[in-house]
Amino acid sequence: MAEIWILRLGHRPERDKRITTHVALTARTFGAKGILVSTKDDVLEESVKDVVSRFGGDFTIKTGVSWHSVLKEFKEKGHVAHLTMYGMPVNDIAKKVPLDKDLLIVVGAEKVPAEVYQIADFNISVGNQPHSEVAALAILLDRLTQGAWVEKEFEGGSIKVLPCVRGKHVINPTQREDMP
Ligand SMILES: C[S@@+](CC[C@H](N)C(=O)[O-])C[C@H]1O[C@@H](n2cnc3c(N)ncnc32)[C@H](O)[C@@H]1O
Repeated sequence: MAEIWILRLGHRPERDKRITTHVALTARTFGAKGILVSTKDDVLEESVKDVVSRFGGDFTIKTGVSWHSVLKEFKEKGHVAHLTMYGMPVNDIAKKVPLDKDLLIVVGAEKVPAEVYQIADFNISVGNQPHSEVAALAILLDRLTQGAWVEKEFEGGSIKVLPCVRGKHVINPTQREDMP
C-alpha cells in the first residue's frame, strides 16, 4: 500500500519545538508513515521516538533532511501535496489526490519558498484563513483516509489506552494487564 509522508519545512528548534512535535504526533495518529524535518533537531527526534516506543506503530522521524532532495524523490516516485491557505479547497481536491503511489504532504513553519507552490502537484487549503498546520494536517489526513485512520492498530509498545466512559483505562498490551 502506498505511504503518506510529511515534510516539515522551516522548523526552528527553539520556537517550533512543541508545534512540530504536534505535527509529528498528528501525522502518526492519522495514518502517515513518517515525518521528514528540514532542520536537524535531535531533541525533537528523541521525543517522537519515545512516543512511538511507548505507544507502538512503526512511525519514522528523520530530521536534517535536504528538502530539495525529498521533493525531487517524491516527484519521481509519487505525488506532492502542499498545505497552504492560498491553495484549492480541501473539499474539492482531497478526493482527486491519488493514493496509488506514495504521497508527500508539505507543511510550513516559517515562510514557505515560492518554488514549493510550483513543484507541488496539489496546493490544498483548509479554509482560506491562516490557522494551524496541526489542524490543517489532521483534516487533510482524515479526508484522504476517509476516516479510516480511526481503526488503525499500533502494534508493539508498552502502553495501550482503551476507551472509557469515565476515568482512564490503560493496559500494557504485551502483558495484557491493567497498568496502575
Ligand atoms: C501557521 S502557518 C505560517 C505560515 C508562514 N508564516 C508563511 O508566511 O507562509 C504554517 C503552516 O500552516 C499551514 N496552514 C496554515 N493555515 C492553513 C490553511 N488555511 N490551509 C492549509 N494549511 C494551512 C501551512 O502548511 C503553513 O505553511
